[in-house]
Amino acid sequence: MDFTKEIATLIYAAANDTALSIESIVEMIEIPPNPEMGDYAFPCFKFAKAFRKAPPIIAKELCETINHGEFVSDIVANGGYINFFMDKACFAREVLQEIAQKGASYGKSTVGCGQNVLIDYSSPNIAKPFHVGHLRSTMIGNALYNIFNFIGYTSVGINHLGDWGTQFGKMIVAYKKWGDKETVEQEGVKELNRLYVKYHDAAKEQPSMDDEARSWFVKMQTGDDEALQLWKWFTDVSMIEFNKMYERLGVTFDSFAGESFYNDKMEAVVAELKEKHLLVESDGAMIVDLEKYNMPPCLILRRDGGTLYPTRDIAAAFYRKNTYDFSKCLYITALDQNLHFAQWFKVIGEMGYEWEKDLVHIPFGLVSLDTGKLSTREGNVVLMDDLLNEAVAKAANIIDEKNPSLENKQQVAEKVGIGAIVFNDLYNSRIKDVLFSMDKMINFEGETGPYVQYTHARASSVLGKASKVEGSTAQAIDYQLLTDESSVGVFKLLAQFNEKVVDAAYKYEPYIVTRYVVDLAQAFNRFYNENNILNCGDENLKQARLAVVDAVKTVLASGLTLLGIAAPDKM
Ligand code: ARG
Repeated sequence: MDFTKEIATLIYAAANDTALSIESIVEMIEIPPNPEMGDYAFPCFKFAKAFRKAPPIIAKELCETINHGEFVSDIVANGGYINFFMDKACFAREVLQEIAQKGASYGKSTVGCGQNVLIDYSSPNIAKPFHVGHLRSTMIGNALYNIFNFIGYTSVGINHLGDWGTQFGKMIVAYKKWGDKETVEQEGVKELNRLYVKYHDAAKEQPSMDDEARSWFVKMQTGDDEALQLWKWFTDVSMIEFNKMYERLGVTFDSFAGESFYNDKMEAVVAELKEKHLLVESDGAMIVDLEKYNMPPCLILRRDGGTLYPTRDIAAAFYRKNTYDFSKCLYITALDQNLHFAQWFKVIGEMGYEWEKDLVHIPFGLVSLDTGKLSTREGNVVLMDDLLNEAVAKAANIIDEKNPSLENKQQVAEKVGIGAIVFNDLYNSRIKDVLFSMDKMINFEGETGPYVQYTHARASSVLGKASKVEGSTAQAIDYQLLTDESSVGVFKLLAQFNEKVVDAAYKYEPYIVTRYVVDLAQAFNRFYNENNILNCGDENLKQARLAVVDAVKTVLASGLTLLGIAAPDKM
């Protein structure tokens, strides 16, 4: 039951103003901050034109003519607003029955049916550290992936690995000079990165190394066996670590087509750019001029003919359009890549493709850590593991204190520690910088991941203790028993779930779901504190309240799952 829509339909029928559709009325309906002003409110200002009257008069007149329908118990004019009071028992029944019936599917919709959304996320660079910025991209992308799927789109997750480019020529030179097989195999990305950093220091003194590196990259491009074998090995070594990380985070991808995948697909792009007279020479390099957009030119070919990061992104966009016919293609990276995406999106537009508008860069802010120890400057892959391990260890300590006899303590601590980090990452609008404050984010109280997980576990535990909770008791429930303010507060939030997920998808903002689960957890804890459930002394009341607990548990679990956060039953 979509209550906003129900109310909009009643208003529409009474107003008889063809200028406003039901959909536009839906958009204008508000939820008053204070329940004394009703459960929903409608501002009459937009009717002023058709009615030729002041909004307060319109509100008064409409109040008398609007049909109450099945769910509305009272309609009151208040200034230019009409306030609607829902029939509380009806409201409880509609919400609880729907959740009991749909379970984990509650809140899903089909608005995106038949449309593919591509999400390019995580996309770390081979042989370089997977840093906290990549963690943000990974978790924002993963959440959007789940969110779009939930509302009917088909999400396609792509890990656009940074696995091609001149840096591999440098890696080969460095490895041949200072590296050895055993150390790389033992130390992985850490060692590869050490070699890379060493290369840069040495090349400053000895610029001829860069020529050597360039010629190795040329060898890679022309299919030289040795060069390609080393490249492939660096990639494999890196992927072992990245995959461990993904497994730990519970993140998957549909495709790992990285930059190297587009090697044989760039020639066609260059040819088309030439044919469309978009390619111009500048200092020996080939560029697309973007002066009319007030942007620096987009670099397509280097002086030595080598391709670049934008060239590969353009080729990838064509491949993706042809392969998946996307309705949107999202790129999740830090804000500092704004110009890169703006530039090559324009190149697609200049080439005459209207789907330029479906390419969306989803930028996010920086991460800072409040402990010197985990400084990003250290910049190696241990950093990520350290970060996760520290969170898990802290979670384990808290669990030890709170629930020393818990089974599978270590597994739960893993879910809580990692959940805390992910939650913290997704708590604010993407563009805001994120502060990693370990103690704050791991706290079981406050607006944190563990708080929401704990609330979910509390709901599970109540249900576990109640002897007979068969999912189907919903039929027999006396909904009149659930009309107190704290219960109604919970139902209002439960009823908003789908709306919030859709909003999060359309704004590309997982935080809307994060805030929602916090609100729901808080409303539930209020309900829990104000209402005795298991020992209320009345079987009917107990069953009715258990139905609320069950519904909240379902929706909290769905919300957390969308965010990529586990919802353990015990903690
Ligand atoms: N590999 C890049 C980095 O680590 C991110 C790639 C993002 N995706 C893309 N299609 N450009 O910064």
